[in-house]
Amino acid sequence: MKREILTMLRENGEYVSGQQICETLGVSRTAVWKAINGLKAEGYEIEALQNRGYCLVSAPDVLTEAEVGSRRCDLWKDSPLVVYDETDSTNIQAARLADQGAPEGTLVIADAQTSGKGRRGRHWATPHGISLAMSFVLRPKFCPEKASMLTLIAAYACREAVSELTGLEPLIKWPNDIVLNRKKITGILTEMSMEEDYISRIIVGIGFNVGQDHFDGELKDKATSLYMETGKHYSRAALACLVMKYFAVEYRKFCEIGDLSFLCDRYNDKLVSRCREVKILSPGAEWNGTSLGINSEGALLVRDSSGKTQEIIGGEVSVRGIYGYV
Ligand code: BTN
Repeated sequence: MKREILTMLRENGEYVSGQQICETLGVSRTAVWKAINGLKAEGYEIEALQNRGYCLVSAPDVLTEAEVGSRRCDLWKDSPLVVYDETDSTNIQAARLADQGAPEGTLVIADAQTSGKGRRGRHWATPHGISLAMSFVLRPKFCPEKASMLTLIAAYACREAVSELTGLEPLIKWPNDIVLNRKKITGILTEMSMEEDYISRIIVGIGFNVGQDHFDGELKDKATSLYMETGKHYSRAALACLVMKYFAVEYRKFCEIGDLSFLCDRYNDKLVSRCREVKILSPGAEWNGTSLGINSEGALLVRDSSGKTQEIIGGEVSVRGIYGYV
């Protein structure tokens, strides 16, 4: 019931009468009063005026089913939502739900992960209270070869979400890292499962550094957080819902069109390496070239020293700045 009450308070923006809440939800006044008190105990500031009802003044930065669910405004907002205080990995949990039949748009969120998975077998740290770990289920009808392009769509959606939430202008490091001041704030891990020659499910997993105040060791020069960049605290639930909103819009277009032609210009406009010299690291080879941007298949076009344009496809290849990560 907390989710429904928060949804009503958020949608209305003003006072909502106790009577209206009771009638809409089909519950007693006492039940509403209890739920409101429960929300206040969790840190919500809810003003109650005798003749006007309830008004949501502020919300805590919590990751709960009520907080995330009442903010969802994407195409899949009625799909299942599972929120953990702590889990091994939201990608693992989303895959488990998908394998049990969970529909497209099912969203799994965690406040902390004990075995967060990064790309190339690396660990992704997700400490309590300051990180956002989210994974969602997709069941596209297109062929498996197109799946890697979803990661670029996710990167674009994350960039837009951060921009809307903070007013900052993060950039994309091809294919799918989001950077602020040349340091990473977001990582994306897309995992696909196939049956014969079709996709049975895809899990898009996204990790955001939101409230960290420092990074140690090898991450010190490579990672940053929204807090470190702005000195401000942001709602992780709001961020997750913005990502879903932007992703769903672009994903729908992608499913219709079948390539990234509709997104190339917008993606390239935010590409950190565009028109800059980059280092291409592939197994057994390393060369420098000029990054030109992505094509409609999501490959990065890089002009080599002979003037020839090469198509860099994800997977084993990584693209760096010539002096470091970006
Ligand atoms: C990377 O190495 O850049 C990708 C990191 C992806 C981390 C996210 S956090 C949510 C989801 N669950 C995981 O275990 N990994 C992804």
